[in-house]
Amino acid sequence: MTDVPLRAHPARRLLQPVINRLDRRIDRRLRVADRQIEGLRQELRQTRELLVTQQSRPFSYDLLYGKDGRLSDRMPSRETFKKLSDEIAAVAGRPGAWTETAQAFRTLVEVESRGVGRIAGSTVNILGKLTTTPLLGPPNGDILEIGTLYGLFAGGMVRQLLRRGLAYRLTIVDPIAPVQLQPGVEINRDPSGTPITEEIVRANLALAGVAEDRLRLHRGFSQDEAVREALSDRRYGVIVIDGDHSREGVARDLEWAEQIAATGAVVVLDDFGDARWPGVQEATEAYLAGRTRMKLVGKVATSAFLRAG
Ligand SMILES: C[S@@+](CC[C@H](N)C(=O)[O-])C[C@H]1O[C@@H](n2cnc3c(N)ncnc32)[C@H](O)[C@@H]1O
Repeated sequence: MTDVPLRAHPARRLLQPVINRLDRRIDRRLRVADRQIEGLRQELRQTRELLVTQQSRPFSYDLLYGKDGRLSDRMPSRETFKKLSDEIAAVAGRPGAWTETAQAFRTLVEVESRGVGRIAGSTVNILGKLTTTPLLGPPNGDILEIGTLYGLFAGGMVRQLLRRGLAYRLTIVDPIAPVQLQPGVEINRDPSGTPITEEIVRANLALAGVAEDRLRLHRGFSQDEAVREALSDRRYGVIVIDGDHSREGVARDLEWAEQIAATGAVVVLDDFGDARWPGVQEATEAYLAGRTRMKLVGKVATSAFLRAG
């Protein structure tokens, strides 16, 4: 008897659909297994990285970058940093922003180490504001910060605009209350242990390198007519809204910003999308839905960036 070649064998033809199904199932399982193995490899890489960092990191590193004396540490992981710089690049319309984010990190660490008190907010949010604002190319170096706390962030923003070659003039409005004022929230003692006084804010700005003749520190509330009158003498290239975080307060700051922003100005809404301050996002979205020359450019960490047309 001669062998029937398997290809032509009737049993093979009958079984072919079953064999195909089995093949597909095996392929599917192999693909799932591949993905699982890749996931495990990634976990292993991260664990190794963490182990190396922990082993090689002296305790003094934690003293420098840890959270003692402030609310959050200044130690973003590589993944967090990469994700942040990608977010910044997307909002700024660039292929990448790693270098600029690293430079902003140095600004943050330096300004906070030199000064007293702290910069408010998470490391990623601070870096988001410090990096994205100059990358959006504000039309001039006139900065208005509404709500300054210890003045350190404003010092950092000045440094960051200088990196882009912008000559700065800094205007700040804040009541400079002994502790951070925030409607609906009681903050009795700052984690830094430093009181908030005008002398301290001025000292911090000097320590950050802000020249006295380029600084205007106005004590008061941004919603006050007298304050607005005094500070509406120029068209600001950068406006940071970080004072009263209530929906009403933010809405009123936006109305003011509308009047005093230079064409092309960058308006930063701090704590946008932060669950602790829902009023910021609510007010901004409601404002943008109305008649305004401002447009949302994007969001990085918990800050929104608007452009005044
Ligand atoms: C979150 S802190 C600002 C933090 C600062 N921009 C930073 O990044 O470190 C808010 C500040 O706004 C001040 N503030 C509250 N209501 C204000 C208002 N209506 N006008 C101006 N400042 C206000 C608070 O007293 C506080 O100093």
